[in-house]
Amino acid sequence: MPHKESEMPMSIGIHDLALATSHHSLDLGNLADHYGIDPAKFRVGIGQDVMSVLASDEDIVTMAADATARILERNGTDGIRTLLFATESGIDQSKSAGVYVHKLVGLPSTVRVVELKQACYSATAALQFAVGLIARDPSQKVLVVASDVARYDLGSSGESTQGAAAAAMLVQADPGLLAVEVPAGVFTEDVMDFWRPNYRSTALVDGKGSIKAYLNAIGGAWQDYLAQGGASWEDFEAICYHQPFTKMASKAHRHLAVLSGHNPTPDEVAHQLEDTMRYNRLIGNSYTASVYVALASLLDHHEGDLTGSRIGLASYGSGSVAEFFGGVVQPGYRAHLRGEEHRAMIEARVALDHTSYEVLHKTTLPEDGREYQTNREGTGAFRFAGMRDHQRLYERS
Ligand code: HMG
Repeated sequence: MPHKESEMPMSIGIHDLALATSHHSLDLGNLADHYGIDPAKFRVGIGQDVMSVLASDEDIVTMAADATARILERNGTDGIRTLLFATESGIDQSKSAGVYVHKLVGLPSTVRVVELKQACYSATAALQFAVGLIARDPSQKVLVVASDVARYDLGSSGESTQGAAAAAMLVQADPGLLAVEVPAGVFTEDVMDFWRPNYRSTALVDGKGSIKAYLNAIGGAWQDYLAQGGASWEDFEAICYHQPFTKMASKAHRHLAVLSGHNPTPDEVAHQLEDTMRYNRLIGNSYTASVYVALASLLDHHEGDLTGSRIGLASYGSGSVAEFFGGVVQPGYRAHLRGEEHRAMIEARVALDHTSYEVLHKTTLPEDGREYQTNREGTGAFRFAGMRDHQRLYERS
């Protein structure tokens, strides 16, 4: 019997995905030299080569606006009614950073904006909320924008795991890139593995404890995913993990493989995750954006045709919440990719020497509301110009 149009399951997911990162970068070899450490500790031990460093006139808003503007350039604004901004590097206790982005990229007033927070996890919550909104009204589209800067104290063990990036996604019915499947496994537990009290600009972290908390939570999310009727381990072509540093993804992949009755060697794990790690190795931790940077990296670099393949997304945010879900790569996805754009953006960063990096790291905004102008440094489309009357000022470059 021919099925009616209304009985066809609707696919909803990511139609377009654009990344943005900082103007500067620091090679971790410089950090190793400065501290007299073997660079292999960073390149091999944690699996990082370079980290993105923001210029003083860049922040989460400028990166987010840059990525969002490129989504709108290609897709226009038709149908967009919501912008969900995911970050843990909030710039205001009340106003969503997304409202600044809304103005900078010229979205109409008929787009609502809200900010979501739960450490590195909230972009995944935003994506699922977006899918829910679209299931209710498939004519609507949602912008999900994740933007973060990972900052730890100079000299702390977390310093080598800093970074910065934004990932903007257009979520809609009949997506061009990845259809998000329904089963999702979730896990929440109150742990103090990583947090940033309101009075600090850098995070506090129990490094080793955070690795254990990540593995425990991601294992819990995977088991809940299976209990929700999710696909089995063998059904995944690839899995993209939250990557505070790429070695963490290897640890998590091995953990889930073992839970699923497999015992991959380190070389097998490295091979299975290689394409998901290419950008993260060069950008560093980008908190909420990280797992979507991994997805872009996989889609931009995988040589074979991924059409119809199931990709797993394993999202973790300290504190802690984790989620595992799957998505199916859509026919014609290659036409929606931005590989050249992303690679050019990463290569265009200006490498810092260690002294300039330290100066930038120590540069913080005045906290007494005094007028302040940033130096003109970044060459992106948008800049953070400074503060006046307790207000942040943004402009097009
Ligand atoms: P550390 O003390 O600097 O490093 O901390 P280590 O001594 O543990 O060494 C790291 C690895 O390098 C080890 O490998 C060493 O053996 C190896 P492992 O045992 O883990 O497999 N190593 C070497 N390898 C080759 N050649 C050498 C060499 N020397 C050592 N010469 C740590 C590392 C990641 C803990 C630290 O950087 C840190 O605290 N980072 C921040 C916290 C973090 O990223 N945690 C990850 C899980 S929590 C998470 O993902 C959430 C987060 O993104 C925040 C959020 O959700 O908002 C952070």
